[in-house]
Amino acid sequence: MTKTMLPAGTFEGQTAIVTGGGSGIGFGIARELGLLGAAVVIAGRKAERLEQAVEALRAENIQAVAVPTDIRDPQQVDALVDRAIAVNGRLDVLVNAAAGNFIVDSEKLSVNGWNAVVNTVLNGTFYCTRAAGIKMIEHGRGGRILSIVASYAWTGGPRTVHSVAAKAGVVAMTRTLAVEWAHYQIRVNALCPGPTDTEGARPLWADPAEAERLKAKIPVGRFGTVEEMAQAASYLLSPYADFVNGEVFVIDGGEWLGKGLTS
Ligand code: HXC
Repeated sequence: MTKTMLPAGTFEGQTAIVTGGGSGIGFGIARELGLLGAAVVIAGRKAERLEQAVEALRAENIQAVAVPTDIRDPQQVDALVDRAIAVNGRLDVLVNAAAGNFIVDSEKLSVNGWNAVVNTVLNGTFYCTRAAGIKMIEHGRGGRILSIVASYAWTGGPRTVHSVAAKAGVVAMTRTLAVEWAHYQIRVNALCPGPTDTEGARPLWADPAEAERLKAKIPVGRFGTVEEMAQAASYLLSPYADFVNGEVFVIDGGEWLGKGLTS
């Protein structure tokens, strides 16, 4: 594991909620914020996975709490935010990392399949952002909100129309709330990771030939690491980025730009 990038104690005394914090990029961000001093409250649907994640975080002396939550249920989301505030009496950071996705031909996607993804990615992100924002406004201490998106929100992404549409909605929501809530000292940004080596994504490139085919599409020639995503997230959530608002920060080795016709 690489070292943290920001000064020790950057998030000391702060509380951060990370949805999807039980695994992958969400876990990496929770860990990074925790190593930098935050108390982290991780949420996800699978209680057992969350408990394992909390154990791993506590082993690194991070103050961590697991709150099993289906972000598609606004009541569960409100309870998550209340639980987080109960930790230290405050809420400083929300990271929307929970997502759901599957590859399917659009003409074969059922209404339920569409709803499962849009309800999680778009509606769930709004429910969490709304609930956290209400408390941040009420407490008057400002806050920072970061949502994980994907570049297919603006390039399009064949066979993931549900996720594409939902992530595009999250980008629009990010830019809207960045302006609307700035006077409350709430900064709202998005992080847009490219292909990242997580347990969840690895099966996509388990076949070495497929891994090579995908890497060839990335100008820097490799997948990203969870640590790289977590370090970028911690920068955006830190005082170093106090003037960064409404930004969609792409960290993908140049993947979405492509290599151009002449390379
Ligand atoms: C076709 C599918 C399907 C699949 C689910 N459905 N999976 N259809 N292919 N692989 C359909 C079901 O048939 C059903 O419709 C409807 O979706 C709801 O399915 P459920 O399993 O009941 O839904 P639910 O338990 O709520 O599951 C939510 C989910 C699931 C999003 C569908 O995939 C999930 O929980 N995933 C979490 C893990 C995950 O997706 N991680 C990836 C995140 S990373 P019918 O009509 O049959 O009732 C990411 C970045 C990707 O998003 C970057 C790619 C490069």
